[in-house]
Amino acid sequence: MNTKPRKVMIIGAGNVGTAAAWALLNQTICEELILVDLDKARVEGHCQDLSDAAAYMPGMITVSTREASDCEDVDIAVITVSGGPLKPGQTRLDELTNTARIIKNIVPTMMANGFNGIFLIATNPCDIITWQVWKLSGLPRGQVLGTGVWLDTTRLRRTLAEALDIGPQSIDAFILGEHGDTQFPVWSHSSVYGSPIADVYQRKTGKALDKAALADYVRRKGFEIYARKGCTEFGIAGTIAEICRNIFTGSHRALAVSCVLQGEYGVDEVATGVPAVLAQSGVQQIIELKLAPDEEEKFRHSVEVIKANIARLP
Ligand code: 2OP
Repeated sequence: MNTKPRKVMIIGAGNVGTAAAWALLNQTICEELILVDLDKARVEGHCQDLSDAAAYMPGMITVSTREASDCEDVDIAVITVSGGPLKPGQTRLDELTNTARIIKNIVPTMMANGFNGIFLIATNPCDIITWQVWKLSGLPRGQVLGTGVWLDTTRLRRTLAEALDIGPQSIDAFILGEHGDTQFPVWSHSSVYGSPIADVYQRKTGKALDKAALADYVRRKGFEIYARKGCTEFGIAGTIAEICRNIFTGSHRALAVSCVLQGEYGVDEVATGVPAVLAQSGVQQIIELKLAPDEEEKFRHSVEVIKANIARLP
């Protein structure tokens, strides 16, 4: 049986890129890991270090470094480049100018060298960069997605799981919109096997679920971690690994990731976090939800903020 080795290129070998490499390797999600970074000495050191770890994994996993242009055989290209550290009070949108300039160089070079795989964008501001990569690549929109609000959704589910003593996989609660300050939980569709999450919470804790406080807690979580350790890395790495695993296995599972919308939710010309079915070809379909009136308003606001920042792209 000669199955083609699954190849993931990680562009940017900083905290997020190397944590993602470790997650992909540790969960044996691919057979070949390729790290790309400007710091050649450091990235070679990462490859050798990760290769040592690979020796403990079942099966053969190779870890090497290449130029981004050497990408024709790559299945998933994960973009984790950073526009530089955020100062207190800044948001992910403040990274736009620096990251967009880097992306503007990388993506055309990869396309000129035959890339025809899937782009997975973890770089912030995630939705705007997802849109920029799609525009620059000319690929079908299904081949370009961002980690979007899947990390935020996981943070929401984990928090509820701890309060309810129910596994996160059984908590059907999720976030929509920008991976940023305008994200919001879709309470109208949040449940445990159809039992509204607020009812389950009330029965378990004897208290009413403070939806606003929980939404704010999830929205701020990334910055809480960032303020303590100067980055977030393991949560986003786990997100990258989960998305790659669902693509490679063709799970057809729906995750809340950043997708380019072309009429869904009555919206065009934007990328934002929506439930999307993941197949080996990438985003296979986008799930449209009937939102409550307040959720429709929040979604519209989130889209407008993303569109306004897409207009800032250099
Ligand atoms: C996070 O939410 C920083 O966007 C990254 O962890």
